[in-house]
Amino acid sequence: MNVTYLGHSCFQLTISGKKILFDPFITPNDLAKDIDVNTIETDYILISHGHDDHIADAESIAKRTGAKVISSWEIVQWLGTKGVENGHPMNTGGSWEFDFGTVKCVTAMHSSGLPDGSYGGNPMGFVITYTEHDVEKYLYYAGDTALTYDMKLIEEEFGHIDFAFLPVGDNFTMGIFDALKAAQFVNADTVIPMHYDTFGYIVIDHGDLKDAFSDFELAVFNIGEEKELT
Ligand code: NI
Ligand code: MN
Repeated sequence: MNVTYLGHSCFQLTISGKKILFDPFITPNDLAKDIDVNTIETDYILISHGHDDHIADAESIAKRTGAKVISSWEIVQWLGTKGVENGHPMNTGGSWEFDFGTVKCVTAMHSSGLPDGSYGGNPMGFVITYTEHDVEKYLYYAGDTALTYDMKLIEEEFGHIDFAFLPVGDNFTMGIFDALKAAQFVNADTVIPMHYDTFGYIVIDHGDLKDAFSDFELAVFNIGEEKELT
């Protein structure tokens, strides 16, 4: 799987030849100022919840690329009122088979107001099941969330997670040590940290991060960096 980090919780993945963008927050992010949002091409945009630091660039990218937006019912409707017509609404507990793999929406313990105060529905995480080189892979994108015991259900259902994208910035979400428990709960192989260093509230100690995840494969990205994760 090819992964490019675009800052904060925004990643672009290539799975089964399709490009999938998570939680686009680029133009307001000072740390991502070298990324030109107008050059991003994508087939899908997955949005975990309605906060601005996850949805800021969704409308412009969706309109320019025609990408299908996968998010809560409320967020897909809200983007629809702004002229984003290609949406697939979901909600926690639901799964749907797309051409890159199957998306299951899972619990995230957070909030989800939209930037104009509209109700954004439930915040969520995504578990994506896809096939690479004839091997079934499981990816967990946690969104913004506290540590929750529901993460054990992910391990129960999928057995393990190949790639776990977990918030580690604390204050608004799990910090490093709760994220470590989350990685253990879902039985992760590779952990990709996100939602850190963007604002003063979520600056982390990178030494603590490396120490905490010493028993895991830890894939830390620079903004703009692209890696092939296997
Ligand atoms: Ni949030
Ligand atoms: Mn956030």
